[in-house]
Amino acid sequence: MKIVSIVGTRPNFMKIAPIVKEFKKHKIKHILVHTGQHYDFWMSKLFFNELKLPKPDEHLISSGAASRGVDQQRDFLKNLVKVALKRQKPNLVIVVGDVNSTVAGAEAAHELGIKVAHVEAGLRSFDMTMPEEINRIRTDAISDFLFTTEKSGNKNLLNEGIAKNKIFFVGNVMIDTLLKHRKKAKKSKILKELNLFNKGYCVLTLHRPGNVDNKKSFENMLSILEEVGKKIKIVFPLHPRTRKNIKTLGLNGRMRKISNLVLTRPFGYLDFLCLMDNSKFVLTDSGGIQEETTVLGVPCITLRNNTERPVTIEQGTNLLVSTNKNKIVQAVDKIIGGVNIKGKIPELWDGKAAARIVKILKNIKK
Ligand code: UD1
Repeated sequence: MKIVSIVGTRPNFMKIAPIVKEFKKHKIKHILVHTGQHYDFWMSKLFFNELKLPKPDEHLISSGAASRGVDQQRDFLKNLVKVALKRQKPNLVIVVGDVNSTVAGAEAAHELGIKVAHVEAGLRSFDMTMPEEINRIRTDAISDFLFTTEKSGNKNLLNEGIAKNKIFFVGNVMIDTLLKHRKKAKKSKILKELNLFNKGYCVLTLHRPGNVDNKKSFENMLSILEEVGKKIKIVFPLHPRTRKNIKTLGLNGRMRKISNLVLTRPFGYLDFLCLMDNSKFVLTDSGGIQEETTVLGVPCITLRNNTERPVTIEQGTNLLVSTNKNKIVQAVDKIIGGVNIKGKIPELWDGKAAARIVKILKNIKK
C-alpha cells in the first residue's frame, strides 16, 4: 500500500501532521506532495519546521497559480498534481480541508482511477458564494473514504446521497495538533515581544474574499475595528490576501489611524496558539480558528453570516454574529463586560483522530 497526501495551504499543514506521524508509526509507505499554493516562508516553510513535517517528496512550483481566478487556480493545480501522481503511482490519495489544493488533489486522483480519502468531509455552510463550499462538495462527491469531524458532517453527506459505509466519524485532526503543541506554545515569547498581557487584548484574523476583496465590505470591517479599538488592543496578523487588498483598495491611511491596532506579519503556529490561548477573545472569519478557540475555551466572534462548523456554536465558545457592526460591538461589550462564554469539548476532539483514520485505512487494505 502506497499513500500520497496532498497539501498546499497553511491550514492543511496542521491537519496532515498527525496523520503523517501515524503512518510513520505503522511503517506505511507515504509520500507528501505540496502543491505550492501557499509559498511564502511565513505561510508554509515555518509550519513545516514547527510541526516537524518531513520535507515534501514532491514540491510543485505553482506560485504562478495564485494570481489566477479560483477556477483557473484549481485547474492549474490539478494538472500539476496529476503529473506527480503519475510519477508516484499510489493506491490511495489523502486530501484535507476545503482549499483549492484539496479539490485539485481529489480530482487529479479520481481522474487517474486512484482511490481518494477526504479528511474533514461533510462540513457545509450552504453558502455557494464561498469557493470553499464548492471545494467541499466537489471533493466529497468523488471521495471513497469520508472522515468527518462532527456529526453534522455525517448528516450532510447522507442527505447528499453518499453511501453510509463510506462515512467515518473520527474527530478532528487539527485538534490532535493543537493538543500536542499547547504546552510548547505556552513557552512562546510573543506576548513579551508585542508588549501584551494575559486577557488584555483580542486577536483578529481576516482573509475571506467576502470580507476583504470588496471595498465596501472591507470598509465595514474597518468601521468595526474603529469601535473595538476604543475598548481593547487588537492584534492583527495580516494574511497575504488581506495585505494586498489594503493596498489596492486604498485603505492604508484609514487603517493606520485606528487606535490600539497592532498590525503584524502572519505568525507561526506556536506563537499564534499562544496568542489565542491568552487573549480575551478572538475575532475571525477563518473556519479552523472557530474550532481551535472552542478547545482553548476562548470566546470567538465569527465575522460571517454562516458557519460550516455548527458544533462550535452549539457546544463550543463560538458566537456567530454576522458582519453587522452593531451586533459585533454588542458581542464585544458582552465579553469585555465579563459575561461568561462557556463551552464544552465536542465529541472525539481528543487528540486521537489521526490514529482512528489510520486504523480504518489499515483495515481497508486487508
Ligand atoms: C486559501 C484558501 C482558504 C484558506 C486560506 C488559509 C482557497 C480557495 N482558499 O485562501 O480556504 O482559509 O488559504 O490561509 O483555497 N499569497 C501570498 N503568499 C502565500 C500565499 C498566497 O502572497 O504564501 C497571495 C496570493 O498570491 C494571492 C492571495 O495571497 O494573491 C490569495 O492566495 P490564495 O492561495 O488564492 O488563497 P487564500 O486567500 O490564501
